[in-house]
Amino acid sequence: MLSKDDVHKVLSGIDDPELKRPLTDLDMVRSVDIDDGTVRIEITLTVPGCPLKEKISSDVRNGVGALEGVKAVEVSFGVMTDAQRDNLKKKLGLKNSAGAAADAPVSFAKRFIAVSSGKGGVGKSTCTANIAVALAKLGYKVGLLDADVYGFSIPRMLGLTGQPTQIDDKLVPLRWGNNLQAVSMGFFVAEDEPVIWRGPLLHKAITQFLTDVVWDELDFLLLDLPPGTGDVTLTIAQAIPTAELLVITTPQATATHVAGRVAKLAEKTNLRVIGVVENMAYFESNGTKEYIFGRDGGKFLAEKLGVNLLGEIPLETSIREGSDDGHPVADSGTNEQQAVFEGIARRIVAM
Ligand SMILES: Nc1ncnc2c1ncn2[C@@H]1O[C@H](COP(=O)(O)OP(=O)(O)O)[C@@H](O)[C@H]1O
Ligand SMILES: [Mg+2]
Repeated sequence: MLSKDDVHKVLSGIDDPELKRPLTDLDMVRSVDIDDGTVRIEITLTVPGCPLKEKISSDVRNGVGALEGVKAVEVSFGVMTDAQRDNLKKKLGLKNSAGAAADAPVSFAKRFIAVSSGKGGVGKSTCTANIAVALAKLGYKVGLLDADVYGFSIPRMLGLTGQPTQIDDKLVPLRWGNNLQAVSMGFFVAEDEPVIWRGPLLHKAITQFLTDVVWDELDFLLLDLPPGTGDVTLTIAQAIPTAELLVITTPQATATHVAGRVAKLAEKTNLRVIGVVENMAYFESNGTKEYIFGRDGGKFLAEKLGVNLLGEIPLETSIREGSDDGHPVADSGTNEQQAVFEGIARRIVAM
């Protein structure tokens, strides 16, 4: 005989697609009625017009429909009341903004790694996106915060479109696969629109990305910093005193020079440099390596900083294409490309 318990049991195995927690845990199951083989389930959504309504509906239909004795499943939707939403936020470990000290250190990730370079165009975002993907594929819970508010590129590189759902004043980040969440200014403005903000607002945007976002309990939060050694690094150092710094450079002397400046900044801000990644290290054609941007700059910089060179990434058309098309090579590239980024990810995990 089909019971409500059976139905609840199935529902406790179905996750909200965004929050990745069972519907029952999130108090989203308002009612279950069984009427001669017809199961009627009412689900309360966090926001009306939730974009993932269809997914929830089909997951519930499929799951409950597979129970013995079920002839039909009817799913209807309601919206949480303010009190229910407050309750949900409590469950998610979120405070109302009013209650959270703006400058209190954040602690939702085991490790915070800021990815930096002295100047733009060295492939910092490309490396950050691919390392994040590689970590996620190793099974770690990863967040990627695009702190390059003016020159954001993470959405395109990960192929993420659409706007994060908002639960009151909290944002639910977009997901790449199950393990990687991302937040970027690019989710809110068009790519060709200029973002013009002054310092204090910039500071506020970054702190909001840290404090007003429904991050999972993360193993790693990677932060794609804007090029150079500006205010954003200071904001991050202030909000996350335990943050680590990963430096991306090309082999070129000027690039290592500016990257060295980043390291000095690290000293000033007390961020620990954990390693150097050399991007665009060489171009291979017909089995011969050409050192287009010079040679060993990454190695020298790492030595200068007293850290390890964590990897050398070649200059390859498909790496650029992967970034442009939203198919990062750490996931869909050649075995060699996947291995390079997995190697860097494993070295980061090991320290
Ligand atoms: N290893 C690489 N091989 C080929 N193209 C690359 C590589 N790394 C980065 N690129 C390309 O170089 C450009 C700049 O990279 P990006 O990651 O946006 O740099 P940054 O974030 O440092 O400004 C992008 O078009 C990117 O696709
Ligand atoms: Mg960038």
